[in-house]
Amino acid sequence: ASLQMYVDELLQIPKLVGYSMQNGLTEPGNLTIGMFEKKWKFHPDLPPTTVFAYGTSAKEATIPGPLIEALRGVSTSVTWENHLPQKHIFSWDPTLIVAIPKNGGVPTVVHLHGGVHPPQEDGNPLAWFTSRYRETGSSWTQATYTYPNIQPAGNLWYHDHALGLTRVNVLAGLIGPYVVYDPKSEPLNLPSGSEFDRFLMVFDRSFLMNGSIYINSTGDNPSIHPQWQPEYFGDAIIVNGKAWPYLKVQRRKYRFRIINASNARYFNFSLSNGLPFVQLGSDSSYLNSPVQTQSILVGPSESADVVIDFSSSKTDDSVLTNSAPYPYPSGTAVDHLTGNVMKFIIASGNPSCPDNSKIPSTLVKHPAATTKDAVKTRYIALYEYDSASGNPTHSYINAKSFLDPVTETPRSGTTEVWEVINLTPDNHPLHIHLATFQAIKVQALVNLTTFSDCMTAKNDAIACNVTAYATGQLLNIPSYEKTWKNVVKIEPSYQTTVVVKFNMVDTNTPYPFNVTAAPGYIYHCHILDHEDNEMMRPLKLVL
Ligand code: C2O
Ligand code: CU
Repeated sequence: ASLQMYVDELLQIPKLVGYSMQNGLTEPGNLTIGMFEKKWKFHPDLPPTTVFAYGTSAKEATIPGPLIEALRGVSTSVTWENHLPQKHIFSWDPTLIVAIPKNGGVPTVVHLHGGVHPPQEDGNPLAWFTSRYRETGSSWTQATYTYPNIQPAGNLWYHDHALGLTRVNVLAGLIGPYVVYDPKSEPLNLPSGSEFDRFLMVFDRSFLMNGSIYINSTGDNPSIHPQWQPEYFGDAIIVNGKAWPYLKVQRRKYRFRIINASNARYFNFSLSNGLPFVQLGSDSSYLNSPVQTQSILVGPSESADVVIDFSSSKTDDSVLTNSAPYPYPSGTAVDHLTGNVMKFIIASGNPSCPDNSKIPSTLVKHPAATTKDAVKTRYIALYEYDSASGNPTHSYINAKSFLDPVTETPRSGTTEVWEVINLTPDNHPLHIHLATFQAIKVQALVNLTTFSDCMTAKNDAIACNVTAYATGQLLNIPSYEKTWKNVVKIEPSYQTTVVVKFNMVDTNTPYPFNVTAAPGYIYHCHILDHEDNEMMRPLKLVL
């Protein structure tokens, strides 16, 4: 029997203020956030589930973890503490490049996704630590991370990033939202306050009858990787820690900051009663102006900041639905379970107070994305390797392992063009730490077999004359993605031209901190199961 939908109300995510007020002035904030094992109710009919959760104490810890509210220009320091037990709730695959502590414990490290900060605050996979920092990875330097919050207003999130364990640590619950506010440049008068402006962290999980989260612990190719599976997909959709919740809304505008925190699932969101979304931002950036759309495709780790106006609803409920096949784009079609996300129950009559919120015609003006600014073009090829039985064993970027010496060394302050060539059958959400970027052209590769054979042999897009192949059909880039993103979806059998800014997004100036410090940054596929198995490379900025 499957779980009944829409029985739990949407959870209000607890907040932590990441700054302090002294004599009317804002001062840097200091927070301590721990990781705890605890029991969590994902659904009233499901026994409590053992999870790992972020919070200020085991009692306060939630899934997702607390919303950290930061102010632009005021730094937030977070001491991340690992209070996890000796043993993980999931099995690991020791054949991956993975953190393995000698004395047990669960290796963890926190990355602020979308954050502009120095390398030692970035949560490098090799900077992992176990409980009480008893054991640490080779790049570990400090317990407290200071986030400068110098970037424009936007939605971020934090999540675990431990070497070879990101997929199981995130699956266990180590995620949470983070927002940078900037009252000086953000549009005012949008729906606001904890009732009308909410984060929705969406992911998929499967459960056993005893309540535990189910992950197949036998790999696709057990003789090569005994536990690793190419993608985790669950058959229940969780929003803010509850399976298919509902939210009672009034007939007025609401703002939802939707983050896809799934390991591998893409969501193509729509509303069942035909209401449109008005999209304000994508990932950590506002759009130049709002975009009205009937559906939004959100890959793993992407986010969409939207307004829904329930005042024009002709029905008294509206289901947030999903139509994205899994794996995306050519996998299994969604069914009733994975095709529904949450339900809005719309009150009749006028709202209790008049809705004075407004969506302005312009939001935040960003510099345009153009190849003219680029000082360098790089070719980034995504490959998948299969076993003799045809099952994927791992994926590589440019045929290199994560531990191979760094090859991407952009200069701080510059813009580059990354031509990303996807020779696998799946879409991959490409995430580059620190940088912001946008896809400006997505063009099909023709005579793909000839081109991929050459790439497999030479691993050199120029030598294989990629410009002779990237001549096929152009794909439309939706207007709701036309801003400075931190994840771009890379279509299979296409070349995606990405303008990458290694500079402060609004001023085009170099980063005002030491970007060259160890351990540097990384870039990777944000399908966590891919990231954990070699679809990740180091990135080192230079001056
Ligand atoms: Cu959201 Cu390197 O991660
Ligand atoms: Cu991938």
